[in-house]
Amino acid sequence: MAELIDSYNRRIDYLRLSVTDHCNYRCFYCRTKAGDRVAGNHDFLSFEEMTRLVRLFTELGVSRLRLTGGEPLVRRHLVDFVGQLEKLPGLADISLSTNGHLLERFAAPLKAAGVSRVNISLDSIDADNFRRITRNGELQQVSRGIDAALAAGMAPVKINMVVMRGVNDHEIESMLDYVLERGLELRFIETMPVGEAGRRVMDLHYPAAQILQRVRERFATQLVPVKGGRGAGPARYYQLANGPARVGVISAVSRHFCEGCNRVRLTAEGELVLCLGHENRVSLREPLRAGCGDDEIMQLIRTAIASKPARHDFLRRDKSHIPLSSMTSLGG
Ligand code: 5AD
Ligand code: SF4
Repeated sequence: MAELIDSYNRRIDYLRLSVTDHCNYRCFYCRTKAGDRVAGNHDFLSFEEMTRLVRLFTELGVSRLRLTGGEPLVRRHLVDFVGQLEKLPGLADISLSTNGHLLERFAAPLKAAGVSRVNISLDSIDADNFRRITRNGELQQVSRGIDAALAAGMAPVKINMVVMRGVNDHEIESMLDYVLERGLELRFIETMPVGEAGRRVMDLHYPAAQILQRVRERFATQLVPVKGGRGAGPARYYQLANGPARVGVISAVSRHFCEGCNRVRLTAEGELVLCLGHENRVSLREPLRAGCGDDEIMQLIRTAIASKPARHDFLRRDKSHIPLSSMTSLGG
């Protein structure tokens, strides 16, 4: 079986695929108000092109795929696309990251088509605050989406909360109550200086250590780091010593998780992004459309992987190496 190993001996077996830049929300820390430059639909790879690339990645040893955006559920025919992906023999796991707005409608069909797990971005459980953060998102709609994901049997259903000082840090406790009541898994995320909007909100950065302190105080308990719970992903998990629940934190900035990085990203326009913290990327769209054969494209992927940076440098004062295109196209 082929493997993708980068020059730091990390095995890349996880692909995050953005299916569209478009989003039905306008979260202020992700989108600039005017809206980031977004590609026209014709710039996006077709689902046939994406399926071919994913197949090539699986032939190179990638076994797990996450669909991201923008907001993946706004792209038409996503369910059929998942059905195509599900047929790829090398793909063991297909998951989804969404803002949840359209999940009420799509959770069951997506589960039936092959999406096993879902991560939902939820930064507030106060309807007014939620609307402010997302610039018009509807909390009730997302809440119904979460219920639909649970009802469809997606497991686990993870909630991602980007914690920002003075914006939603007062909701850390109520968010904990909300997820515990519903049997959801919660991950707190530190802001990252990715994209123009992301850079601006670094003033609101709320460090993971403080978040964990709040959790300890809320439950008057110690937090026990979960061994092996970190997996290959960026989250570190903690068990509440007096209960069954665990929480995760993604402290992108205050602590590095790059040593164990196992992932690369593919934008909707077919660019292979090697690290969230670096601008270097390789377009696979042109070779794809120029009629290159499978072997040629696989060789391009191998060469690109060899140039994967060792780590992000989010704290460097000069931030010109960090992508200016926001999470809008990078999919988190
Ligand atoms: N910092 C941290 N997380 C971000 N996301 C979007 N922009 C940023 C940022 N600047 C999150 C979204 C979502 C995931 C895809 O990335 O809230 O949970
Ligand atoms: Fe859309 Fe997610 Fe960005 Fe919010 S964070 S605007 S939901 S892509």
